[in-house]
Amino acid sequence: MRDTAQPIYLADYQPPAFLIEQVELTFRLAPKTTRVVSQIRFAPNPAAAPGQDLRLDGEGLTLIAASIDGAHVTATPDATGLSMAAATLPDGPFTWEAEVEIAPEGNTALEGLYMSNGMYCTQCEAEGFRKITFYPDRPDVMAPFRVRIESDLPVLLSNGNPAGRGPGWAEWDDPHPKPSYLFALVAGELTARTVRFTTMEGRDVTLNIWVRPGDEDKTAYALDALKRSMLWDEQVYGRAYDLDIFNIVAVDDFNMGAMENKGLNIFNSRYVLASGVTATDSDFAAIERIIAHEYFHNWTGNRITCRDWFQLSLKEGLTVFRDQQFMGDMRSHAVKRIEDVLTLRARQFREDAGPLAHPVRPESYVEINNFYTATVYEKGAELIRMLRLLVGDAQYRGALDLYFARHDGQACTIEDWIAVFEDAAGRDLSQFKRWYEQAGTPKVTLLEDWQDGKLTLTLRQHTAPTPGQPLKEPLLIPVALGLIAPDGTELLPTQILELDSPEQVFRFSDLPTKPVVSALRGFSAPVQLAHAQSSAERAILLGHDTDPFARFEAGRNLARDILHAMIRDGARPGPEYLEAMRLALTDHALDPAFRALVLRLPGEDELAQSLHAAGHTPDPDAIHTARRLALRRMADALAPDLARVVEDMDTPGPFSPDARDAGRRALRLAAAGVLAHADGGAKARAIFAQADNMTEQFGAWSALLAVGAGAEEGAQFHRQWQGDRLVMDKWFAAQVMHAAPERAAKIAAALTDHAAFDWKNPNRFRAVIGSLGAHPAGFHRKDGAGYRLVADWLIRLDGANPQAAARVSTVFETWRRYDHERQALIRAELTRMQDRPECSRDMGEMVGRMLG
Ligand code: PHE
Ligand code: ZN
Repeated sequence: MRDTAQPIYLADYQPPAFLIEQVELTFRLAPKTTRVVSQIRFAPNPAAAPGQDLRLDGEGLTLIAASIDGAHVTATPDATGLSMAAATLPDGPFTWEAEVEIAPEGNTALEGLYMSNGMYCTQCEAEGFRKITFYPDRPDVMAPFRVRIESDLPVLLSNGNPAGRGPGWAEWDDPHPKPSYLFALVAGELTARTVRFTTMEGRDVTLNIWVRPGDEDKTAYALDALKRSMLWDEQVYGRAYDLDIFNIVAVDDFNMGAMENKGLNIFNSRYVLASGVTATDSDFAAIERIIAHEYFHNWTGNRITCRDWFQLSLKEGLTVFRDQQFMGDMRSHAVKRIEDVLTLRARQFREDAGPLAHPVRPESYVEINNFYTATVYEKGAELIRMLRLLVGDAQYRGALDLYFARHDGQACTIEDWIAVFEDAAGRDLSQFKRWYEQAGTPKVTLLEDWQDGKLTLTLRQHTAPTPGQPLKEPLLIPVALGLIAPDGTELLPTQILELDSPEQVFRFSDLPTKPVVSALRGFSAPVQLAHAQSSAERAILLGHDTDPFARFEAGRNLARDILHAMIRDGARPGPEYLEAMRLALTDHALDPAFRALVLRLPGEDELAQSLHAAGHTPDPDAIHTARRLALRRMADALAPDLARVVEDMDTPGPFSPDARDAGRRALRLAAAGVLAHADGGAKARAIFAQADNMTEQFGAWSALLAVGAGAEEGAQFHRQWQGDRLVMDKWFAAQVMHAAPERAAKIAAALTDHAAFDWKNPNRFRAVIGSLGAHPAGFHRKDGAGYRLVADWLIRLDGANPQAAARVSTVFETWRRYDHERQALIRAELTRMQDRPECSRDMGEMVGRMLG
């Protein structure tokens, strides 16, 4: 490992020694020899100790020349930047000028300035700007930027408003002070789809989505989503856009989903490009969400940014919460909430239960790129949802207004954020703040006692130790709760119980009959609820609860209990369960999207997680077998109903990605998927043959693969789509994801030999290697072939793109759940990954934490 692997601590924060009044950058673009000239007007920071050296970050830069106030200076960069001694600096403000050379063509890490399919683009969050020029590359240094780009490429873009254009050059001016991580530049042969939008303040804004020629017919949906996002942020948060132009660029090689650079968002092309025939309904939904997310960052992230990277959730948790609200408003709040909770559990609870657990606001890191996690994003959003529940909707809006009024243009902390809620709601939230500091998923136990018409509920909370945090304090946990009579009528509408100590008792009297307790409605807190209920009670909630999340959850708990019993003592799904599923499946009063979610069994990793939480060692093979058996039973018992649903849920007329049709397709495919376990895939094959959209084509092929069929359809799919990169990612992924456990590693290995397996492209790498890691029974094959293949490829990718490799390495994060043999095999692979002298800081930190 490199010796730069020193942790950085939140407690060590120091304000910057110098602030920046203005930045001017000139880029002379060339693949191997790009020159960057920077002119930076520095002034001593009045809030910092005087007389400090000037320290500039810089990595991989060739310094050509430097001067201060026009006088040449000699600077000797080290591995991480350069320093100018205080004694050599003028008193007061001065201008630093430097020229550096960089080579975007060889930049496979996709951080800084790099090339993707002949186009230049940048990625600067979190610390990529230091790969472009020498700079105090930290978010609390904000400055207006002026940028000149020199290149013969036709489209030259940067942040802010256009400020001039001539043959071979373009200039951009961004008047809003911003941290360096929001800098962006794009140059290439691109074509735009354009619309105009007038803000509520009367500003006329040009909206462009830039893509490679040929892709322009796949940009309509994203552009429409952008307009709706802009309108929504005005209507719901009172926030208008603040430049004359908003550019989005799609690039094929991108480490993450997308990036909120001021006025110039850069997107992984999979989250922009969509047409009905190439994109699934989930792709459309992801595009809508991520377009909104990056747009919403303009206020929550850009106008108000983070003081330091420990505060990352200040912008990410809040922006995820906002994109969740937006999606609920655009589609269905009930369905969106269920999907968000499923993602939270699948990714964040998993993280919180293992060696990578960390607080929403971490206290130290080695490589900040390793902390763009489900905890910072998704749990961070849950904390805001809880805050809103605790203070009420009106005070939530008041707190946000105060946040924007008080902190516009600043780089802030979680303390600033909590303070606006305390001030707006007049409430002390110091206990609530522990949610930001304490890692781990609290377990809440609910015990019921029923006597003489009185219901007594005892609530307990406990959080298990996590790495570096052996002792946990009690949290303030809002538990939304209602009571339902056995006949389904609601006896008590939702109340918010505030659990703030290890144990509390709540009493409910004057009840006509023993009620069924509907707890944690809407998933009011990110906790694991232990609440023993009979199957009969769960069936009542599934059938009648007024809270749609609680209905879903009741069905989920039924399924989970049955699967646990099947896995542990070979039980069979009983008739009550099958009858409950039949009722949900055939209830026409229910939204098809909701019915599709109820029908879907918990996944294999979710079952491993819940078995582990219940004190068992999960056996991936047993889980896989039991789950298939349950699907088979459902298919046999419900065949006529499933077949009818497949027929009923057609979507006649031209394809529309709207929520209504998407929900119908989801239910149709869910039903055909279950049915395939009894009919050998006949219905799925028919759907595939008739499909005029990717959702049904791909969904039906996946259903076939899952029952060991689909070879012919796969060949046809390949013939039809081999020219489309994004669809080919699906082709790669599906074959691994739905492979029989004993074949998954072999299939993945064969796919890595395929001519189209471009492993340096993060989407393609994840489609094969990430998909193997997400196939529990395939990845955890007893002979270790899955582990070996993944480790081999992570080692290879680490040499080219450490950030991407470190992210995919989280497929190993659950390793301590499993038996000793599997643990020994995984430990050997993790050690092999770590014991290389060239192991990156990114990977070194991840593997080090996993090994613990
Ligand atoms: N800030 C981006 C987002 O959440 C994510 C991102 C982080 C992208 C780091 C690239 C690099 O919208
Ligand atoms: Zn974000």
